[in-house]
Amino acid sequence: MAAGKGTRMKSGLPKVLHRLAGRALVQHVIDTALKIKARRIVVITGHGAAEVEAALVESARAGARAIPTFVRQEPQLGTGHAVQQALPHLPDDGIALILNGDVPLIEAGTLRDLVALCGGERLALLSVDMPDPTGYGRIVRGGQAVQAIVEEKDATPDQRRIGEVYTGFMAVPNRLLKQWLARLTPQNAQGEYYLTDIVKLAVGDGAAVMAMKCDDTVQVDGVNSPMQLARLERAFQLRQAHTLMEQGVRLADPARFDLRGTLACGADVEIDVNCVFEGAVSLGEGVKIGANCMISDATIAAGAVIHPFTHIEGGTAGVRVGEGALIGPYARLRPGADLGPEVHIGNFVEVKNSVLARGAKANHLAYLGDATVGERVNYGAGSITANYDGANKHRTVIEDDVHIGSNCVLIAPVTIGRGGTVGGGSTITRDTPAESLSVARGKQVTVANWKRPRKGNR
Ligand code: UD1
Ligand code: CA
Repeated sequence: MAAGKGTRMKSGLPKVLHRLAGRALVQHVIDTALKIKARRIVVITGHGAAEVEAALVESARAGARAIPTFVRQEPQLGTGHAVQQALPHLPDDGIALILNGDVPLIEAGTLRDLVALCGGERLALLSVDMPDPTGYGRIVRGGQAVQAIVEEKDATPDQRRIGEVYTGFMAVPNRLLKQWLARLTPQNAQGEYYLTDIVKLAVGDGAAVMAMKCDDTVQVDGVNSPMQLARLERAFQLRQAHTLMEQGVRLADPARFDLRGTLACGADVEIDVNCVFEGAVSLGEGVKIGANCMISDATIAAGAVIHPFTHIEGGTAGVRVGEGALIGPYARLRPGADLGPEVHIGNFVEVKNSVLARGAKANHLAYLGDATVGERVNYGAGSITANYDGANKHRTVIEDDVHIGSNCVLIAPVTIGRGGTVGGGSTITRDTPAESLSVARGKQVTVANWKRPRKGNR
């Protein structure tokens, strides 16, 4: 169910598209449904339907996953009415598992248990004990047996004191769901078709109704406000941090760690505080990440050290950092940066779409874009590749053992031959042969005994 408005988010974005750990809330729910191998995923949209559907289609394509089936609920006449819209897509021999697009952290194991409890014949509800049950549907029991779910607005004062509430998750045999939904009426305080009314109908029919208690509130907490979203984000991040630490990753502080994607780590990885990982990142054995790094879509090989405040953004091309490389502080690696072993990239150096071979160094204030850099090259402070002529990008090739002085401009396309030297301050426009020295700058003029003009001095 993803048709609700989400008024309390006070946002132009449909609620279920707000992001938790980098993924839309409803995407978390879909991904969990995929984990338990749902036969079919039906998304009920309403508010912002076109936007929600477009976002889900795009992410399914990007992840090469099947596009879910969409049904629209317009207008929104309640949760029972919402599920009615999906019925044409539910085969009679199946089980419907009702999920909420705004309850992102439900886990696959809990859903499997709920489906098992349903077993194709029972109505299985997921409930939770709430210290403050205000606003939720209460689970009314007669002895042990569940008799009904009563919504807050329809509950008697006695019923309002019940602490066991319905979480919004249920598993129902489709065949029975169809019969019960057909019998719903909106005779209640809100004039809505309540999905929860099917409990009474099931009990009346003599069908078995079971409630399974969830003792992990994070899994069943919904997002209705920015505060709740931030709270769940922290809970989720802490869970991810603990999982990594159980694998041996040393996080300086699990409360200051953010993973918005996947992170694979070898043994003895150390991650200092306030690092953010996005997309797919892999860190080899013994990699150290300094404080305040932002790293997305990158593969960092064993023994590499990423010093603080480094920004690595792999995008679709990815970034590769070789074994034992030293990066940062304050380095910027952009899509297609492919650094060999023992490469050094220092402060305020930007590398984009460039291959640097073993042992190449660019330590200060430099730009390498669309370049191929050989082994052991030393690329001086303040030097840049002028790779863009205003219309096209061109490559710069710097062969093995070249030394580029400081403040050079290499105007691509250009090749600096093996072992060559480029003098500081040179603007290089033509290829240079191997082992040569190229200097391309104004000749120095020195005037002896030069007196600078002085104020009031004629
Ligand atoms: C619902 C349950 C309540 C339960 C609570 C748990 C009903 C009648 N009540 O209450 O017992 O304790 O969830 O959070 O089911 N939605 C639609 N179309 C609609 C109405 C809602 O798609 O016409 C979607 C919402 O987007 C949301 C979900 O259904 O994802 C639940 O709706 P919401 O209004 O939050 O339900 P509650 O009234 O809080
Ligand atoms: Ca409601």
